Amino acid sequence: MQEFSVQSLVDLGKRYWLPVYKPRDLVLDHGKGARVWDTESRDYIDFGAGIAVNALGHQDADLLAALTEQAGKLWHTSNVFYSEPPLHLAQELVQASGFAERVFLCNSGAEANEAAIKLVRKWAASQGRSPEQRVIVTFRGSFHGRTLATVTATAQPKYQEGYEPLPGGFRYLDFNDVAALEHAFAKSEVAAVMLEPVQGEGGVLPAAPGFLKRVRELCDSHGALLVLDEIQCGMGRTGTLFAHVQDDVTPDIVTLAKALGCGFPIGAMLAGPKVAQVMQFGAHGTTFGGNPMAAAVARVALRKLSSSALLGNVQRQSEKLRDALAALGTELGVFSEVRGRGLMLGAVLAESYRGKAGEILDHAAAHGLLVLQAGPDVLRFVPPLNISDKELDDGLARLRAALTAFVGR
Ligand SMILES: Cc1ncc(COP(=O)(O)O)c(C=O)c1O
Repeated sequence: MQEFSVQSLVDLGKRYWLPVYKPRDLVLDHGKGARVWDTESRDYIDFGAGIAVNALGHQDADLLAALTEQAGKLWHTSNVFYSEPPLHLAQELVQASGFAERVFLCNSGAEANEAAIKLVRKWAASQGRSPEQRVIVTFRGSFHGRTLATVTATAQPKYQEGYEPLPGGFRYLDFNDVAALEHAFAKSEVAAVMLEPVQGEGGVLPAAPGFLKRVRELCDSHGALLVLDEIQCGMGRTGTLFAHVQDDVTPDIVTLAKALGCGFPIGAMLAGPKVAQVMQFGAHGTTFGGNPMAAAVARVALRKLSSSALLGNVQRQSEKLRDALAALGTELGVFSEVRGRGLMLGAVLAESYRGKAGEILDHAAAHGLLVLQAGPDVLRFVPPLNISDKELDDGLARLRAALTAFVGR
């Protein structure tokens, strides 16, 4: 095989990709577990798992077997005909959810949320509500995707700038602000409240204890739906298969993507009894949704990510990572707070290091560690959920070295 220099590959990205990303100047080549190697054979501990995607690490043998077996049989059928994997996946998602009756399979998080937004609107229409009575409330700091509707649901102006006119019918409130929500229900006809039980891109910010329960009560008393975006925080990431179980609420709609395919693109919208029959033939669709290869992989991912062994590892490694981050924060004075749930943790940068998350990412990569930021002020830790003690210890040692170098720069 022809060898390419890192620079020549990076130059291709700089020359030919629409410049919407800013990747670091390294080219990843292969991975195993929570470790990846670049094209120059340097290894990295992966504390980002893509962006909370590779929940079973890299090259999981069971995922690989499911993918290759299905790849040898059938790649695509469209939704004009059935194939077996998405049928069983839908059944298994319904059974695992404990609330859903039906599933719409798609290809990404944005597409799952787009389906959820459309379902809310269709449901409201079926109730005889006028368009003005179909408001969807979302929260500042949220992230729901990049399509025009989901970027409008995303209550962060930086993602919306220049894309106006945006679709109407969204209202933004402060996250965890019960009084503001009560006021919104009193002022307008809210059809749904949509939120992430743990905000991801917005800074790894969990819903306050009791907040979701109060949202559910308000939705119930005002005839509105509760839509939970578990695209980042779902699939075991917070220590339970679904994050909302910890908040003790039953949603009407839940969206999944990211770890559902553990790296193979797939999304899903789960619909509870109030809305499962609202969209009928022709109301929605997608060419690739329910792809048999994606579904075959997701079935294995679902089984493994639901296992008590895996969820136990999330709890155990979460405590270890949280304690280590807190200790590093105290020792080096870099963090003011460590927050999050399970293996979705955010280290908030201390006042004097605000805005420097990107710089720390560079230091980490130079020390053989892949981490993420969640905005300019928060380092985000979302490693594979099956990360081993050795991988975690190695990653922490590299983080320590990177932060020490950063602080003394
Ligand atoms: C909570 C949440 N919702 C939706 C999305 C959008 O998913 P995708 O990038 O697959 O469209 C993301 C992606 O980061 C996310 O974190």
